[in-house]
Amino acid sequence: NKGNYEHYMQKEIHEQPESLKTTMRGRLIRGGSCKAKTVLLGGLKDHLKTIRRSRRIVFIGCGTSYNAALAARPILEELSGVPVTMEIASDLLDRQGPIYREDTAVFVSQSGETADTLLALEYALENGALCVGITNTVGSAIARHTHCGIHINAGCEIGVASTKAYTSQIVVMAMLALAIGGDTISNQARREAIIDGLFDLPNNVREVLKLDQEMKDLAKLLVAEQSLLVFGRGYNYATALEGALKVKEVALMHSEGILAGEMKHGPLALVDENLPIVVIATRDACFSKQQSVIQQLHARKGRLIVMCSKGDANAVGPGGSCRVIEVPQVEDCLQPVVNIIPLQLLAYHLTVLRGFNVDQPRNLAKSVTTQ
Ligand code: F6R
Repeated sequence: NKGNYEHYMQKEIHEQPESLKTTMRGRLIRGGSCKAKTVLLGGLKDHLKTIRRSRRIVFIGCGTSYNAALAARPILEELSGVPVTMEIASDLLDRQGPIYREDTAVFVSQSGETADTLLALEYALENGALCVGITNTVGSAIARHTHCGIHINAGCEIGVASTKAYTSQIVVMAMLALAIGGDTISNQARREAIIDGLFDLPNNVREVLKLDQEMKDLAKLLVAEQSLLVFGRGYNYATALEGALKVKEVALMHSEGILAGEMKHGPLALVDENLPIVVIATRDACFSKQQSVIQQLHARKGRLIVMCSKGDANAVGPGGSCRVIEVPQVEDCLQPVVNIIPLQLLAYHLTVLRGFNVDQPRNLAKSVTTQ
């Protein structure tokens, strides 16, 4: 049921304040004055010790689910101290890459039925790794075959392009990072800030959804373009990849997510006064590096659209020199949840304006059950 919306993708984008609440329900504890703030993940509690002791954590997924894991990687590394590596399921299988008994392999999948991810799971089980599932589908193959796991609880996602599952996956993996990290005096303030940030996230998402009309206007401006680049780094490298994936899969426009740190190693050659470029430059430890990326793109007359924290328009585009998208600032590791939303809206409006099928893009299936 689409309710008052024209498309499922649109409904699912706008549902995110609620789907995120459902994802967190019963899992975040913010007790009274003497009670510490904690995270409870029932499906993992018997395995947390093993995960903490593992030699590395390997994230495995495809498409949007892979991108969600990439967004959560930095906070998992920071809080757990365990090395975290990333694998696209098909590539792990193609290489028959090494997976060891001492590894924790985390399988991320909205449907829980993606063939490549499932085959990678069988492979990791054969190699003796502890296998953790993060899926949105109770009783799915990945949920059944992993040793333990966490349900995303984002509610049924119908649009082929994944939106609300992506943000809920990031939140689940941030909670996973908190659960694995455990309480130490030295990280207490950071943990509390993240937990407070999680509680406030639905409201911040509601706030950023108000950019709907602004993103529609931007889509009008970009409707006839051949290509769109998205630059991000740090926590928002994943946002760049995921924003570009949304634009290409539903709006059928070429789009590429680029790690800003790689700009000078090739992509800079593409920059001219015609190619539109989204630069994600919200406040975090990478902000000054992104400012210098903006300056360099500017010097080459790049057509910039900068996503920045509220109030930063002048810090990123001096003298109104570029178009800005201002978003609420949240705890750095949760910023990808907020930042993807304007790009989801942009992809949605581009698709409608270009006259393509929003909920069932050509050639794509919601659940890819063949290799
Ligand atoms: C993109 C998209 C796909 C899926 C990918 C994995 O919007 O929907 O990239 O994310 O096919 O699917 P799941 O998460 O079901 O394993």
